[in-house]
Amino acid sequence: MFAKFHSIGAYAPSNVLSNADLEKMVDTSDEWILKRTGIRERRIANSDEVTSDMGAIASKIAIKRAKLEPQDIDLIVCATVTPDYFNMPSTACIIADKLGVRDVQAFDISAACSGFVYGLSVAKAFIESGMKKHVLVIGAEKFSSIVDYRDRTTCILFGDGAGACVISATEDRSEAIIDVNASADGSYADFLVTPAPGSVNPLTQKVLDEGLNFVKMRGNETFKLAVKTLTKDVRDILKKNGINSSDIDHFIPHQANYRIIKAVGDALKMTERQVVLTIQKYGNTSAASIPMAINDIYEAGRLKRGELMLLDTFGGGLTWASAILPFGGD
Ligand code: UT7
Repeated sequence: MFAKFHSIGAYAPSNVLSNADLEKMVDTSDEWILKRTGIRERRIANSDEVTSDMGAIASKIAIKRAKLEPQDIDLIVCATVTPDYFNMPSTACIIADKLGVRDVQAFDISAACSGFVYGLSVAKAFIESGMKKHVLVIGAEKFSSIVDYRDRTTCILFGDGAGACVISATEDRSEAIIDVNASADGSYADFLVTPAPGSVNPLTQKVLDEGLNFVKMRGNETFKLAVKTLTKDVRDILKKNGINSSDIDHFIPHQANYRIIKAVGDALKMTERQVVLTIQKYGNTSAASIPMAINDIYEAGRLKRGELMLLDTFGGGLTWASAILPFGGD
């Protein structure tokens, strides 16, 4: 049995936070943000709109496009670092309820920006082993819930949103996911961290006063490691599978910083036509970034059945992951 990437869906909240808006909040400028990151604006969820709401909307679209019913889904995997609740219930369980699905295996994956591609590796393994037939993989983030809007080094980067896909069993090898590689190196754990709440820093007034509940990033060091790791990761997966970068129709990297994407794309000799960019309008949406980007080209009519996608991502942990797969939808 093989696993195919059957369909895609996404959701972006309607509220836009522009660089001009951020200029009024912190000491920054539209020019600095654009030049250093490529971001013009990002979407921010309403206060009553939570991660599972966005994930459920994206999921419904993906399930419909796969011409399935929610009840056909037998595993729900939600990648997020901004879950509805800190430890339980999982966001995947809440999404299952919002889809009206009962008696289904559902759990979250915590691999930061790499979470969606980690989820693909889980879906592929479950399907190839014959345990599941239709797996819903979601990347959903309300990243604004852990951003300190007084910290100019992080607040300009992140946005909210969700993407989801259905991975289905197939006997046709030509439409199968070719390979997924997921990896991590915990010795860089302090590069990107939300210090609280957790067993290291249980929630106290002091923790809140010190802002330890907000994301902290060693930006420049993360940047350099990202370029190096993403490039090597793609070279390795292409070589392992005997595929050239010119065979790729759509190179869909994690949307963290335009300069990272450009450096990696150039090193891999990807043309502008191959590289998918959404960073300018969504910023960095963490685990949602890649499925939102896939959905973007799908809705623009640029993603056709059988076309080869190369996914490449990098995030807190540190984690990284890549995948080569044909689009198996209509
Ligand atoms: O998704 C997970 C993975 N995440 C990433 O891959 C993100 C990687 N990092 C980055 O994208 C970049 O490092 C940033 C965009 C966060 C920062 O860009 P940078 O070119 O690495 O700048 P920097 O941190 O070296 O800072 C350069 C200067 C500093 O000022 P001084 O010390 O040179 O006077 C910063 O204080 O820019 C200053 N700065 C800003 N200035 C205006 C930092 N943030 C801002 C800002 N506006 N928002």
